[in-house]
Amino acid sequence: MRIGIPTESQGGETRVAATPKSVAQLVKLGYAVCVETGAGAKAAFPDETYIEAGAEIAATSEVWASDIVAKINAPSSEEIAEMKAGATLISLIAAPRSPELLAALAEAKVTTLAMDSVPRISRAQSLDVISSMANIAGYRAVIEAAHVFGSFFTGQVTAAGKVPPAKVFVSGAGVAGLAAVGTAGSLGAIVRATDIRAEVAEQVESMGAEFVAVDSGQSQKSTDGYAKEATADYAAAAARMYAEQVRDVDIVITTALIPGRPAPRLITAEMVATMKPGSVIVDMAAANGGNVEGSRPDEAVVTANGVTIIGYTDLASRLPTQASQLFATNIVNLMKLVTPGKDGSLVLDFEDAVVRGMTVTHDGGVTWPPPPVAVSAAPAAAPAPEVVKPEKKPRDPAVTYAVMGVSALALLMLFWVSPVGLLGHFMVFMLSVVIGYYVIGNVSHSLHTPLMSVTNAISGIIIVGSLLGLAVPRPTVTMAVLAIGGILLASINVFGGFLVTHRMLAMFKRS
Ligand code: NAI
Repeated sequence: MRIGIPTESQGGETRVAATPKSVAQLVKLGYAVCVETGAGAKAAFPDETYIEAGAEIAATSEVWASDIVAKINAPSSEEIAEMKAGATLISLIAAPRSPELLAALAEAKVTTLAMDSVPRISRAQSLDVISSMANIAGYRAVIEAAHVFGSFFTGQVTAAGKVPPAKVFVSGAGVAGLAAVGTAGSLGAIVRATDIRAEVAEQVESMGAEFVAVDSGQSQKSTDGYAKEATADYAAAAARMYAEQVRDVDIVITTALIPGRPAPRLITAEMVATMKPGSVIVDMAAANGGNVEGSRPDEAVVTANGVTIIGYTDLASRLPTQASQLFATNIVNLMKLVTPGKDGSLVLDFEDAVVRGMTVTHDGGVTWPPPPVAVSAAPAAAPAPEVVKPEKKPRDPAVTYAVMGVSALALLMLFWVSPVGLLGHFMVFMLSVVIGYYVIGNVSHSLHTPLMSVTNAISGIIIVGSLLGLAVPRPTVTMAVLAIGGILLASINVFGGFLVTHRMLAMFKRS
């Protein structure tokens, strides 16, 4: 079968559905590939690179007459008219919002695989363009904000004075939101993020950002990776939190989305009016009604108090090479799924939830919406079985006192037979134990590695001291026992440290 890759006709589109690398992979699957002249030019893929990868460069009509047409955006009615009956179209479709398009494709007897209808299940992640494009868009949203923002993102101490880091607040910690959190953090900003789904707090924190919870006593736990609409109580508490955050931060990036619904309005014009002049908001949901009052799709609006609200809806296309690479890889992964024989022939197995979920027209009919798939991005936790703990018997106080008494007696006897001066050393030792307990107990986890080096150095000193203690002429039994004990314990620390380091390094080695 032949796959055609047309030039995108939608104004402003810079991406292309195949790259030289993906062409080579499609050829390996047994397909012939023809790419329209200049299709990859805007994404920095000249025609020659496609030819080298095994594709043929063809004219528009030839490309549209292919058995399979793979592209980024949904085709126009003129483009559909050029497709042959029984052909397969692979592209973004926006099925819930495009009944006329679906009817036209069905009428043209085209089978349509909608790249934006991939069910959100683990198995389908490798072909999920919504996620791969949202990831790029989240990154680009931060870059757009940084471009407009008049200061550094990272804090600096310079000869001319101290520069505080920028504060970035991200609303909605899905794919785009987490990409924005990561990008802003890597630029050195202080990053905070919120989401209606409490389960994402851990992901936000694992990226070094602070999770800002809404103090409403309610949060959602999703079973499909998507949020449901907020309750009135939640919305009121969220509004208080947003008012506080936007007043404090320099950059706001909003990505809140509830599938199939207009974007929730989170930030009002009054909140924007409290922001510092020069602050920037990127409303990623601008195309869908906007999370921010005053944002306009595809525009950058500057408010009376000097806040720029960016509503670009083509953030992924603003990184055409990267976006084309990921989109093309998603298509290759789809083709691998529907080409079981690796023989260049497409086999659609409608028993497969992924194939069925994506197929929106087939055999002259509209097949959207598909039957619901039991998706489970984060399955709701089953109630934990009640664990009956064995009842702990309270210890007899007489036994406790006896143990303490015997220990004190043993200690006294140790001092009795010990050389003069041991008492002083023992006091120092006990004080070190107490101080060490409080100091080390309060060291943050991220500093445990340097701490390990310090304790290794101390252990080295203990070993040297113990060896010197043994080296004196005729050491007493106590000294010998203490020195040998010291060598033993310190060696456990030193060699244990090497062992742990070795295991940690092994985790970074390719198998
Ligand atoms: P996603 O579904 O992965 O993430 C959306 C997040 O918003 C979810 O974590 C959800 O729990 C959260 N959310 C929903 N309601 C909320 C509320 N009231 N308060 C706080 N959080 C809430 O979606 P994805 O893929 O990350 O996309 C995010 C947005 O970015 C969408 O609106 C999408 O259309 C848009 N987008 C925009 C692009 C552009 O060029 N402007 C490109 C790609 C995506």
